[in-house]
This record gives sequence, structure tokens and C-alpha cells, in this order.
Amino acid sequence: MRHVIDILDLSTKEIDELLCVAEDIIENPEKYREKCKYKKLATLFFEPSTRTRLSFEAAMMELGGNVIGFSDANSSSSAKGESVSDTIRVVGCYADIIAMRHPKEGAPYAASFKTEVPIINAGDGGHNHPTQTLADLLTIKREKGRVDNLTVGLCGDLKFGRTVHSLINAMSRYENIKFVLISPEELALPDYVKKDVIEKNNIPYVETRSLEEAMGDIDILYMTRVQKERFFNEADYIRLKDSYILTPDKLETAKADLVIMHPLPRVNEIDTKVDDDPRACYFKQVLNGKYMRMALILKLLEVEV
Ligand code: CP
Repeated sequence: MRHVIDILDLSTKEIDELLCVAEDIIENPEKYREKCKYKKLATLFFEPSTRTRLSFEAAMMELGGNVIGFSDANSSSSAKGESVSDTIRVVGCYADIIAMRHPKEGAPYAASFKTEVPIINAGDGGHNHPTQTLADLLTIKREKGRVDNLTVGLCGDLKFGRTVHSLINAMSRYENIKFVLISPEELALPDYVKKDVIEKNNIPYVETRSLEEAMGDIDILYMTRVQKERFFNEADYIRLKDSYILTPDKLETAKADLVIMHPLPRVNEIDTKVDDDPRACYFKQVLNGKYMRMALILKLLEVEV
């Protein structure tokens, strides 16, 4: 029985296998329609979500399984004071696998000790979001044909952006990756990622405040939202929220085969005019998330594929 709390809970080989399964699901969806018949996924979302929760639920349904859960902790007995550990123990009596999002860093990890069923971290505070990274990797693989030999520009809120932390952890394990870290100083990548992951693995990187200066060098541009919900002070959020807005004119110096990504939701970071650019891949990322979550559910439930 396995949990996926951190993207590093999966080896590179396992991630590559998940990418292959997801691509097979895309090509042959009918093969998978009953793979999880009679299985139940619980989605426990203590924090808002559109993509992650609904894609997990769609993933389980497309595998022939069923879904239970809540999208608002206030509609669960948490509102009466039940602890997360008790909630998890209870839900483990009903479900075969649990996807859990929580505003507190480490909550899914703590929960994983309280149940006999696999727990998937669907985002914990400003820490990690491993299944978004699986969606990101499939998008990169499908758009570029590889997940190595790439210069990856990460732009925006690198401090609280949990998708960035998980993506850096994953991509650091592939050959010849370079990172360009584009953020205001206040939203720079935390040391537990910069020093403990990028520097420890001797991965080349540069830090800059200028998206325009970085644009011409990068193969993947990963835009992120400034994470309003993680700020202690609204004035700081208002000052920083529009630090980067990607508009068509800023793409003039970009590579012709640039891949523009964003985990979504976007607020103001990408002008909607960019949506028509063939390099804009953020809605493809959404769909890829469902396929990778299907592959992950199959793996954790040890279903033969
Ligand atoms: N990318 C992502 O996690 O989106 P949601 O918050 O809508 O799940």
C-alpha cells in the first residue's frame, strides 16, 4: 500500500511508467472503462478546488469506479470539531483510495499514518502538489517530446506556489535541465527548494526579476498566480499581485516552440489574448491532469494495466 504525498514518493521510472499509461489511456480509453469497477475514491477537500477535485472524480468515473467525499469542510463533521485524523480513519472505512487537499502543510502526510488506504496529496498549503506535477510532466512530454534537455522558466509566486516546488523536485531528476526563476524578491523560491533541491543537484539556474529578459532563453514558461490565500497582509498581496502579466507583445522574443503553461486558476497573470497563441498549453494541462490521475489511481490500487 502506497501513498503519494510528495512527487519524490514516485521514482523517475515510476513517473515514466505513469506517463506511458496516461498516453495509452488517451489512445485506448475503452481498455480502461471497467478497471476500477466497484472501487471508491474519496475526495476530501478542506480547501477550494475546481480542477484537482473534478479531475480526480472524472478520472475515477472513467475507470468505472465511484466517488464519495466533500468539497467544503464546513459540510463535513470538521465543522463540529472532528480532527483530520479521525476524519481520515472514518473515510478509510468507506473508500479504497483518498485524494485530500488541506491548507496546512504536511496534513496529508500526517493523515497517511491514520489509514490503511492510499492517500494522495491533492495540495497541502504552500508546500506540494504532486498530481499537478504529473499533469505538467505529461503536458511537457506531449508538447516537446521529452522531459529532459529543457530550460524551464518559472514565473510569479515561487514562494507559496506549491506546483512550482513539486515541479522543480520532479524535473531536477531529469538530464540537462536549467531553471530560470522569475519573481519579485518577496516571492522568491524558498531555500528548502533552491538550496536543498536545485543547488544540491548541481542544476544550473538564474534568478531574475525580468520576464522580458528571460523570455528568449526558455523552452517552457510556467506562469503562476500570486497565492492570495497564503498572505498574512492584504497590502502586500495588492502590491505584488500584478507583478507579471503575460501579454502577446511580451512573447515577441520567445522561441517559436515555447510551451506556455499555468496550473490555473489564473487571475491576471496571462492576458486572455494569449489563449489564441498556439504555444498556450494551459488548458491542455487541465485535460492531461485527468489522464495522469487515472494512471495514478490504477497504480496505487495495484490494478493490472
Ligand atoms: N491547479 C489546481 O490545483 O487547480 P484547483 O485549485 O482548481 O484544483
